[in-house]
Amino acid sequence: PVLTQEDLKRIAAYKAVDFVESGMVVGLGTGSTACHAVARIAELLRLGKLKNVVGIPTSKKTEEQALALGLPLSDLVAYPSVDVAIDGADEVDPWFNLIKGRGGSLYREKMVESRCGRFVVIVDESKLVKKLGEGGHAMPVEVVPFGWNVTLEKLQSLFKSSGCVAQLRTGSDGKPFLTDNLNYIVNLFFKNGIEDIHSASDAIKRVVGVVEHGMFIDMTTTLIVAGTDGVTLKNK
Ligand code: A5P
Repeated sequence: PVLTQEDLKRIAAYKAVDFVESGMVVGLGTGSTACHAVARIAELLRLGKLKNVVGIPTSKKTEEQALALGLPLSDLVAYPSVDVAIDGADEVDPWFNLIKGRGGSLYREKMVESRCGRFVVIVDESKLVKKLGEGGHAMPVEVVPFGWNVTLEKLQSLFKSSGCVAQLRTGSDGKPFLTDNLNYIVNLFFKNGIEDIHSASDAIKRVVGVVEHGMFIDMTTTLIVAGTDGVTLKNK
């Protein structure tokens, strides 16, 4: 049988859940790949194959899914250290750096995933890129609504020479998209990808009004890629 993209996402997610052990605090990612991992953890708890797992959700959406499945949840106040986090990504470069947040949850994801002993990234092979932002796909930046237009202008001017275009993310109703933190998202489109992700990260973080950006640099510890030829697991 031909494997669909959904099958590949599920295969990668199930493999990642092998890293979850009884008694662990687990960061629960967001998106169509991570939701398979959340479902699998809940299933193993129900079957009694896992016990005493506490999940830290990275979005309201994941929180709702986990609650509906009876997966016990907590937060970083009660558990500031997370044993393992499992999440998808929009793009993965050859050094396992990521673009995340096209679902809008980048801040909570980065907060939880920067607190974990092991960060397992699960993707299907379509997410692999040579350079982050290549192909002109969005790199999201979460910004405070107050003065968002000033922040957007400043962000665009930072990368003017590389032909970067900044755009406020809006919903189907034309209104600004709101994150779980009630902030806005400015999407940055780089014509030829992001030249130097470290300096881009530093420059973006210095702009007043920026909460966080979607480049997850040097955070991945394990990468699981599901392709039509099988699954590969690589540790950093
Ligand atoms: C959510 O904000 C994102 O960071 C997701 O983790 C990312 O967009 C990957 O989502 P999919 O697994 O749905 O492609």
